[in-house]
Amino acid sequence: MLRKCLVHLKGWIALYILLGFVIQFLSSLGIVVFQKILDQAVDGTGFSEITHWIVIYGVLLGANVLLNYADEYPGAHLSNSITERLKIMALSKISRMDYTAYQNMGTGQMIKVIENGAAAGNSILFTFILGTLHELLPTILFSLFFISYYDLRIMLVIAGGYVVIFVITNVLLKYLYRIKAAVLKEQESMSRYSIRGFMELVVFRTNKKYAQEISRLNETARQIIHKSAQLQMIHESFFALFEMFITVIKVIVLLYGVKNVVSGQASVGVMVALFMFIEKIYTPIAIFNVLFVGYKLNRVTYQRFEEFLNAREDANLEKGKAVARLQGDLEFREVSFGYGEVQVLDRLSFSIARGTSVALVGLSGSGKSTVIKLITGLLKKSGGKLLVDGTDIDELSLNSYYDHISYLSRIVRYSIPRSGKIWCLTRRCRMTSCMRFWTR
Ligand SMILES: Nc1ncnc2c1ncn2[C@@H]1O[C@H](COP(=O)(O)OP(=O)(O)O)[C@@H](O)[C@H]1O
Ligand SMILES: [Mg+2]
Repeated sequence: MLRKCLVHLKGWIALYILLGFVIQFLSSLGIVVFQKILDQAVDGTGFSEITHWIVIYGVLLGANVLLNYADEYPGAHLSNSITERLKIMALSKISRMDYTAYQNMGTGQMIKVIENGAAAGNSILFTFILGTLHELLPTILFSLFFISYYDLRIMLVIAGGYVVIFVITNVLLKYLYRIKAAVLKEQESMSRYSIRGFMELVVFRTNKKYAQEISRLNETARQIIHKSAQLQMIHESFFALFEMFITVIKVIVLLYGVKNVVSGQASVGVMVALFMFIEKIYTPIAIFNVLFVGYKLNRVTYQRFEEFLNAREDANLEKGKAVARLQGDLEFREVSFGYGEVQVLDRLSFSIARGTSVALVGLSGSGKSTVIKLITGLLKKSGGKLLVDGTDIDELSLNSYYDHISYLSRIVRYSIPRSGKIWCLTRRCRMTSCMRFWTR
């Protein structure tokens, strides 16, 4: 599904990545020009020639400021598009989803899965993948390239350091997972306990359950706080580790550089440029580690969303006989239906002739809504025949059947089309008084 999103937004993505590369290239070039200016000043090159380089430096920096600003647009466009697109995909899934699968999931849980999943999908695509391609990769590549232009050995040491840090990150990740999973679990039970306490005042107060409930919450909260602090410390250790590594490199470059400057083998400008590149290279790798951890954790959330997107679909929506005209004869012939083990209808038979109005009355839980959902084809009978104008409903293409029937739920607001057709329909059924009440 994320791939679909990528394909849909490919133009914007290409522009965003290209801008990232251009920005980082100009920024690195700026450092090289700065080095030239410094060295020419020390060498005693003529002022007019140095001014020429200073103008180039200014133009490079200015262009970068403008590009950085322009870059905000595709960035904002993409980050919002991905979340919205994933939510649209979810709604489009609901339009085709098997009704029983929909019911089994439950609205509350489904909304949570969609909200969290869309946010996680956005983090994976935008923050991690595009963040890496747009900013981290070009910064690292150009920095390494220009460092190797000055001194290949330093570049090799830093590149080797990346690999070591990456391996260490993966080891730390295992601990991080365990702690994160525990925090999530504690947060879920915290929300379960507190919501129970908020909702069930009468039960909890009369049974004197609040003291016990509060002490349980206290313990859960203590765990969450402790583990979250641990999580933060591990996160921060990624930064600390790499900063330590970079500090060692800086000291070596300084020692080595000063020695070479003193012996006249290297210039001050080159040493400054190397320092600037090393500084530049530190941030992306530290950020990458944090993003990588976030990505791994987001995958878990996103997986649940993907399971929802892959839920069973209603095979009868498009497949089957198209309904060109509907006379309206309806017959239940020994129809049986059950929700799992619970049998609700047992060989139910009745018929409704075209043009007649029928009210289905019965005790709550007797099966009225189930009958309606069978007539609309949402639920599938387990036995018997449900004939619409003589054809079994399972043989009809439901989408073409829906061109001829209407369904009004209690929430009438969402079902009223602007044409007012439903108004006429309800008038015909002498429901105007209810209608007025509903639309008020
Ligand atoms: N999604 C469901 N899963 C399990 N049982 C259900 C489900 N929906 C309804 N039922 C059960 O099926 C029976 C009939 O329900 P329903 O058709 O909604 O009754 P009515 O509309 O007449 O009140 C009830 O016993 C109800 O508890
Ligand atoms: Mg009902």
